[in-house]
Amino acid sequence: MKFEKEILCIGAGYVGGPTMAMIAYKCPQYRVNVVDILPEKIDQWNSDDLPIYEPGLDEIIKKARGRNLFFDTDIEAGIKAADIIFVSVNTPTKTYGVGAGMAADLQYWEKTARQILDCAESSKIIVEKSTLPVKTAQAMERILNSGKNGVQFEVLSNPEFLAEGTAIADLEDPDRVLIGSQQTESGLRARDTLVNIYANWVAADRIVTSNIWSSELSKLVANAFLAQRISSINAISSLCEKTEADVSEVARVVGMDTRIGPKFLNASVGFGGSCFKKDILNLVYLCRHYGLEQEADYWEGVVSINEHQKERFVLNMLTAMFNTLAGKKVCLFGFAFKANTGDTRETPALTIAGRLVAENAQVVISDPKALDNARQDTKELKGDIQFIEDPYSAAQGCHAVAIMTEWELYRTLDYKKIFDSMQQPAFIFDGRNIVDHDKLFKLGFNVFPIGKPKKVHF
Ligand code: UDX
Ligand code: UDX
Repeated sequence: MKFEKEILCIGAGYVGGPTMAMIAYKCPQYRVNVVDILPEKIDQWNSDDLPIYEPGLDEIIKKARGRNLFFDTDIEAGIKAADIIFVSVNTPTKTYGVGAGMAADLQYWEKTARQILDCAESSKIIVEKSTLPVKTAQAMERILNSGKNGVQFEVLSNPEFLAEGTAIADLEDPDRVLIGSQQTESGLRARDTLVNIYANWVAADRIVTSNIWSSELSKLVANAFLAQRISSINAISSLCEKTEADVSEVARVVGMDTRIGPKFLNASVGFGGSCFKKDILNLVYLCRHYGLEQEADYWEGVVSINEHQKERFVLNMLTAMFNTLAGKKVCLFGFAFKANTGDTRETPALTIAGRLVAENAQVVISDPKALDNARQDTKELKGDIQFIEDPYSAAQGCHAVAIMTEWELYRTLDYKKIFDSMQQPAFIFDGRNIVDHDKLFKLGFNVFPIGKPKKVHF
């Protein structure tokens, strides 16, 4: 069968995999090919055991894979055949040299651009999906157009706004799709090609176009604003713990103001995930680069409140449990950075686990999807750490349970059974405010929510 377009995606991660699966599922007239430098990851995408857990992903992969969706290791052949190449390789925070700990490491992006340049035999549209600091597209265009005669590359910015755990719903019905392009004739033509791909299932008024720099910056700013809301409510949560106020009541009232809105106002043990911290630090780095010190400090505050919130959580545990955790057994309910994903990048649970073993506590980690990642992440931590998926077995014999992830499962457990199997006095620290605190207190637990009065029996 002849396909209307050949689409390639380089990078089969949390963004590349689901995004391409959705394009293939919605557009059977295009052939979508996904490649990655890790052959084992491609094998997993071709198996029944996908490399990432995402509700609804299995179903759409089953419908499209082998029909017009393919996962492959041959990057060079993929580049040659493609009309449009999405680049979705990771852009972690730099760990070396200028901007270490702050700026984005663009080596994978640049390496990918050079590989495209080396292999391409015809003109192509290159779409940056990875979150990149502003002006990267311009740099990429310079690299790409430094080569062969007659082969032209048009670079577009198309940042992905999906959130993990809801990726399929976000892709199917996005708030907006953003496409940034050069404002030249060829830039606008390339932009329209990409608009037409999304128009197969996204309403025209949800597809926003802009200049390329606005597009790149908008992604950083959207993540910074989301994270800022969480740090704002978390800063209020500590004030609530010192007073009689209840952070959920405050958030409810504040969120009812239609100018503010109710979402992303859940106080927590801290935000995690691969994007928020990385993108804010990027924004901070950009501000400092342009000499905007106060603006940089302002955004950096969002990250430092988040670090503080995690530290505060551990100190609350320490104080509540009679100022020593040494030899005590603490069970973490959840290790993923949020519910409905197995992803643990930047998860607050890792920081908490690290601090607990530093206090010589024994740590038992439980999670329905993230235990493999948890085992990897905690390898460097020197201490007594166990991994037990079943929450009842995990909590057995523990002095405390700390809820790290808002998995639905943890709302509905038989906490009487858990209480009876624990060391007394039994403590619960609810880092997500998801359990019924009054009920647990009546069962005998000493209960420590976030941003609400504690309930203790002594
Ligand atoms: C990535 C970026 O990290 C993020 O900034 C951006 O917003 C979206 O793309 P994610 O999909 O979550 O996010 O990253 P990850 O799951 O690590 O996937 C990246 C994939 O690219 C990996 O599978 C990696 O093996 C692959 N890769 C990396 C390449 O194929 N080539 C490279 O040169 C580097
Ligand atoms: C985020 C953005 O939402 C998404 O648009 C972007 O493309 C990538 O980064 P993601 O990191 O997958 O997505 O998850 P998100 O739902 O934003 O949650 C991030 C963190 O904030 C999680 O640790 C979550 O538990 C925490 N969070 C979220 C809170 O602590 N309180 C809230 O009210 C909301």
